[in-house]
Amino acid sequence: MVDGLEVNKIYENDFFDVVRDWPDNSIDHCMVDPPYNMSKENGLGWAFSSHVTMSEDWDTFERKDYLDFSKAWIREVARVVKTNGNIFIFGTYHNIYDIGHILAEMDFRIINSIVWFKPNAQPNITCRLLTESTEDIIWACNNTEEKATKWTFNYEIAKALNNGKQMRNMWRIPYAPKREKKFGKHPAQKPVSIMTRMIMIASKPNDIILDNFSGSGTTGVVAKQLNRKWVMVENKHQYTEIARKRLQATVELPEKIKEVFEKEDEILSK
Ligand SMILES: C[S@@+](CC[C@H](N)C(=O)[O-])C[C@H]1O[C@@H](n2cnc3c(N)ncnc32)[C@H](O)[C@@H]1O
Repeated sequence: MVDGLEVNKIYENDFFDVVRDWPDNSIDHCMVDPPYNMSKENGLGWAFSSHVTMSEDWDTFERKDYLDFSKAWIREVARVVKTNGNIFIFGTYHNIYDIGHILAEMDFRIINSIVWFKPNAQPNITCRLLTESTEDIIWACNNTEEKATKWTFNYEIAKALNNGKQMRNMWRIPYAPKREKKFGKHPAQKPVSIMTRMIMIASKPNDIILDNFSGSGTTGVVAKQLNRKWVMVENKHQYTEIARKRLQATVELPEKIKEVFEKEDEILSK
């Protein structure tokens, strides 16, 4: 417990209702997968791609409302995350340019943009456009372009995860497999593999990681397994239920992560 903030807890609330009680500078990093505003009324998301056919109330905004919503949560995240903490934000072309613009307007230091390539993306059934097979992740430092310094990047861990070579910003990772959905499905569930990689390269053991739109809880599930503290916020009971069940079970870490995680202290102390 740090003042009004409880760690290793899922807040089943609206983010804006809980964050106001949290102290400034109390969380090490934020890794978040917000609504992308890509849902369509009939669920025909990506131009009939069948890839993702989202029709979710939590993912449907008028454009101006989406911009206001995004600015408001980013401002709150920046307040509660420590200066120079890492902020990772997922998106696709539906929202990522808006998110990038907001971050630039707020003068955040962008560290990297990461492309998540999904080799098992489903074909586009219209044959009128390229098959969407990527998502984007913006990695920002919680400070201004000019002042940002000493953000966490576990360079040697990243190298170890990539067979001794420098890690690039293109990550080839399939969708969350069936075994990760055995406690229920979330339409935007992120794979354990992507969150393990992010957490291993961009946080230290015992750091507190926030996911303020946590869905089925992938961030917290992985953080717990990797000996990090976590805070998740999700306002839909059906999703917090999945997250709670996942947190009680043991996550199967990808082989490479397991191997590097076992040597984490040794690598970090070099
Ligand atoms: C893209 S999904 C996150 C999926 C998650 N990464 C996973 O692996 O399951 C975004 C989530 O944010 C939740 N959400 C949207 N607006 C919210 C708000 N204002 N407060 C709390 N949760 C919210 C939605 O219910 C949805 O489950």
